[in-house]
Amino acid sequence: MTRPLVGWGGKDELMATAGTPVPAGDVTQRVGVEVIRARGVDVEKLIKMLIANAAAEFASTYYYYTILRMHLAGYEDYKEICEDARLEDRAHWELIVPRIYELGGELPNDLPEFHNQAGCAAAKLPNPPTVINILTVLLESERCAIRSWSAVCDMTFGKDPRTYDLAARILNEEIEHEAWFIELLAHERDGKSISSGHFRRGEPGEAPYSKNRAFYNP
Ligand SMILES: [Fe+2]
Ligand SMILES: [Fe+2]
Repeated sequence: MTRPLVGWGGKDELMATAGTPVPAGDVTQRVGVEVIRARGVDVEKLIKMLIANAAAEFASTYYYYTILRMHLAGYEDYKEICEDARLEDRAHWELIVPRIYELGGELPNDLPEFHNQAGCAAAKLPNPPTVINILTVLLESERCAIRSWSAVCDMTFGKDPRTYDLAARILNEEIEHEAWFIELLAHERDGKSISSGHFRRGEPGEAPYSKNRAFYNP
């Protein structure tokens, strides 16, 4: 928002117009939350969405992709690509969890409860665990992630730049993951070449958009 220089009343006007009447020294409210609420974000709903997405990253995908990867024996190239998607979902989990707390939310103190709040179905090992069935599970999981993170982007665009930035960085990778598994499934199931444009990450789980430093995601 651009402000005219004439009539700009400095910090007093800023306090009055920003919709953030948080008294000095008050630690029960957050200006970082009140400014996005004033811009129209339903913060409580956003927190629920972020917990659902965090659960999808950690429980629905990172955990179950571990099992899926174990059953790609004999397909070492597919195994490696599944591993990239798996580790990047862990990076997504690490990236988004601090934002839940910044917004005043918290994770359930109970892992089954957390798992059951996931916004995407668990990527369970299919029966029979053929390579085609596994790739289908992977593809549909990525599609759920794209829908979920797009919803967060839509809700925060132009209102909550920090959550938007984190969600958009994750979404970039989910879109890549979908393209990877379309390519592999089309090749394996249909004998078709539908390129994702992918070669390989520099190292497993590189997460070029969602991981700037390796501190939390070695
Ligand atoms: Fe993810
Ligand atoms: Fe993904």
